[in-house]
Amino acid sequence: MPEVKKETSPTRPEGLEPKVPSPTSGSFTLAHLSDLHLTSLNGIAIGQLLNKRMLGYLSWWRKRRRVHRLDIVEALLEDLKTTRPDHIAVTGDLTHLGLPDEFTDAGQWLARFGTPDQVTVIPGNHEAYVGQQWSTQLSAWVPYLISDDRQDSAPTGELFPSLRIRGKVALIGLCSARPSLPFLAVGSLGEKQLGILAELLQETGKAGLLRVVLIHHPPVSGTIKWRKRLVDNSAFAEVIARFGAELILHGHTHAETFSELQTPAGKVPVIGAPSASELNPHSERCAKYNLYLIKRNGDRWVLKMLVRGYSEESGKFDQEQSTDLMVPQF
Ligand SMILES: [Fe+2]
Ligand SMILES: [Fe+2]
Repeated sequence: MPEVKKETSPTRPEGLEPKVPSPTSGSFTLAHLSDLHLTSLNGIAIGQLLNKRMLGYLSWWRKRRRVHRLDIVEALLEDLKTTRPDHIAVTGDLTHLGLPDEFTDAGQWLARFGTPDQVTVIPGNHEAYVGQQWSTQLSAWVPYLISDDRQDSAPTGELFPSLRIRGKVALIGLCSARPSLPFLAVGSLGEKQLGILAELLQETGKAGLLRVVLIHHPPVSGTIKWRKRLVDNSAFAEVIARFGAELILHGHTHAETFSELQTPAGKVPVIGAPSASELNPHSERCAKYNLYLIKRNGDRWVLKMLVRGYSEESGKFDQEQSTDLMVPQF
């Protein structure tokens, strides 16, 4: 991935002060949002719509511009002021066609969700719509995706996997985004990224942290259509089976999904959040986000997942479901 330029961090938005000083509290709340598709393609030049982008633009014009609604994003921001998570993870697809202006616009939206120390982002396939130059555009989001140990220096080389530690939680960000042929939206990680992932899982596991892996494409086969799959999902599953993880969060499906990956210490929950901005008559596809309440109880991790969904009737998000999660105890 080419070198990217680091930008200065925005100031903390009002009303999004952290609820607790998480490094010492012993409990932690992580919000998972995905597939916000925040940007508008109104007024873009026809010259920007060469190749696959023309198909993407037609899809946006026919459907996406109506279903991904900014009033729902505003309701989401209001709800986050009441749930006050310690950290927010955003698993990609903030744009539609990955155009430079869309990266800039989405970066401004990110600043409304929180500061870079409060929000972690990974890219989705819509950020990598065409060409190889897309990764240079990630410079607009660097403060939100760079590893902790690279925050103070100009980032060079590969940005992923990223490692951001908040309290007792290690957020490991992966990049499965890559350009693919028209009518395909596949992703892949590659050997190099999987090798570094293995090292990070070992390191953070030894440190006694709860390891949350963030990936845009669902890593369990059968979760999504073949044309949208993670190509090297078997290699990913092997790394998880060998080095473990406590939770894997993804997007891309635009629907609520739950699957698991096996390890010797038990099954790792693999949970997909729907789009957090989509108005859809089918409940499982309508805008939602998930909150994970994470606690250490003796030598065990205790996790609860709360689903907060949007209601068109109230114009607000509200709690729909609460589930105790079983996580492997390594
Ligand atoms: Fe998406
Ligand atoms: Fe996607």
